Amino acid sequence: MATYIPPTHTENPYLPFGDQRGSPFYGRDILSVKQFDRKDLEYIFGVAHEMREMVQRVGTFDLLKGKILASLFYEPSTRTSSSFTSAMERLGGSVIPINEVRYSSVSKGESLPDTVRTLECYADIIVLRHPEVGASALAAQFARKPIINAGDGIGEHPTQALLDLFTIVEELGEVDGLVVTMLGDLKYGRTVHSLARLLSLYNVRLNYVSPAILRMPEDIFSELDEKSIQQAESDKLDGVLVETDVLYVTRVQRERFADQAEYESVKDAYVIGADTMSQAKERMIVMHPLPRVGEISMEVDDDPRAAYFRQMEYGLYVRMALLAMVLGKA
Ligand code: NCD
Repeated sequence: MATYIPPTHTENPYLPFGDQRGSPFYGRDILSVKQFDRKDLEYIFGVAHEMREMVQRVGTFDLLKGKILASLFYEPSTRTSSSFTSAMERLGGSVIPINEVRYSSVSKGESLPDTVRTLECYADIIVLRHPEVGASALAAQFARKPIINAGDGIGEHPTQALLDLFTIVEELGEVDGLVVTMLGDLKYGRTVHSLARLLSLYNVRLNYVSPAILRMPEDIFSELDEKSIQQAESDKLDGVLVETDVLYVTRVQRERFADQAEYESVKDAYVIGADTMSQAKERMIVMHPLPRVGEISMEVDDDPRAAYFRQMEYGLYVRMALLAMVLGKA
């Protein structure tokens, strides 16, 4: 529904005309990171900064008072769903949580377009996670209200990539010039698909380290290649660890494998431990979208370079910024 611009001044008569349209994202869907340029990112991160200050100062405030978010998750989630809920509630709005589609009419066979058309009667914005690539884009075709893609199968996870990039900026101060190494399941990991695309707006070098059967998809590789991004592939971390500024670790996505024996053969391919960290730069960060299932051992958690728990908190501020922007209040 990218072209849908809802009438603004009728929405809230108490706001002067223009107030709700201040944001370039007002009324827009967030489906893929392809829709952002560097200016957009600066804007989003600027708002995220303000959100952090406000949360630290007052905790909860009334920017989105009266607004309702429908949180529709067809796949498991802890961080994404609860951070969107927290974001909405810290902004004074409320949430219709449908985290167990099993208990909704989806289990009766209702189609995604119908479910979305239902929820938009009751909510102002819909956050959707779905196992199929393109599900959010499909939902957006049918919805009049904005759709935020919270993960569409092995496709994209744009809000995660935004918070990942925000983490890099906050932790390392800049993006240009960095060497980012993505490790693990680069085939099925939607977070790395979105992050690689987003990083291609910057002057970065990317290393992809994975088992041969879990390599970064060809279409993403060539997309970045056309943008002259330097990319290197390997099945070993050793060679690239010393030059890495951001080590982005991912979980092998068990649920995406058709053949469980294949999963078993790669599930323990990499484990980041204290020995790994001893070979890494002094100034670098380790990230992970989480959940982890053994690819980073707990002994790394206390290392100041382990940024994955801080990364979750940055996610709250970025999602608050996105909600405020799409709902026209930032
Ligand atoms: C990721 C996801 O769902 O794609 N988790 C998340 O949103 N933080 C990564 C994963 O499940 O491995």
